[in-house]
Amino acid sequence: MKNPEPAPAEAGELKQCCAALYESEATRWLLGDSFHPGGVRLTERLGVRLGLNEHSRVLDVAAGKGTSALFLAERFGCQVVGVDLSARNVLEARQAATARGLPERARFECADAERLPFTDAAFDAVVCECAFCTFPDKAGAAREFARVLRPGGRVGLSDLTRRGPLPAELSGLIAWIACIADALPIEAYRQCLTQAGFATEAAEPHDEALGSLVKQVEGRLLAAELTVALASTLPARFDLTAARTLARQAREAITRGQLGYCLLIATR
Ligand SMILES: C[S@@+](CC[C@H](N)C(=O)[O-])C[C@H]1O[C@@H](n2cnc3c(N)ncnc32)[C@H](O)[C@@H]1O
Repeated sequence: MKNPEPAPAEAGELKQCCAALYESEATRWLLGDSFHPGGVRLTERLGVRLGLNEHSRVLDVAAGKGTSALFLAERFGCQVVGVDLSARNVLEARQAATARGLPERARFECADAERLPFTDAAFDAVVCECAFCTFPDKAGAAREFARVLRPGGRVGLSDLTRRGPLPAELSGLIAWIACIADALPIEAYRQCLTQAGFATEAAEPHDEALGSLVKQVEGRLLAAELTVALASTLPARFDLTAARTLARQAREAITRGQLGYCLLIATR
């Protein structure tokens, strides 16, 4: 069963909680630079499948601290705009663009994926990694992707997937903002894109990328529990036990085939 659509006030809070989670030192330490399974290796695959080149104008929606956007600008020579709801992420992305000599090719703005501050048909490609499933209004976000893309432009989505209902323990608030609770079956992502006017070209499972990331998180949580020095770097309110339980439950759901990761390419 899909979680019921949250009411607007609740939806705003969810988005802010999600942005705050990905600003926290603990999350950054657990995940590393890329806040999605597969890291820049999977981002490169997305870029290849989108056919990016030095003429492409790319929008990275929910760009985190800009790791993928900067990678795409360097690897494919394209122009990238990254948007994220978190002001801290946007600031760090801008600093990283300057440090890497990319401020002309990669710029970053604070914006909501469901209300993109761009004119119609402004981009050739939209990228959205490990964030679409956290958007309370997925249909609205998909319509925004279509609106800002030129006709024939492509969207590349990578996200968490579920097969069948998720166990109850993976449906709570923390699981939601950690992107798990509202993971959809691949078919439901396809439908969202189809309803927004896209035709899906490719859908690839990448469950192993999620498995590796969860193992990395579990390893770091275990290290923090065992090492006083590491544990002291975590924020006071960080619940190490709850985080370890969630990571273990996620790993078990991946093993049972209930939770996975996918890459989708669709054309407008
Ligand atoms: C799992 S992280 C993925 C970040 C980035 N795409 C990456 O792969 O490194 C999710 C990101 O979505 C951002 N976010 C959540 N809701 C958003 C929204 N409605 N609009 C824009 N960004 C949002 C969060 O601030 C966070 O940086």
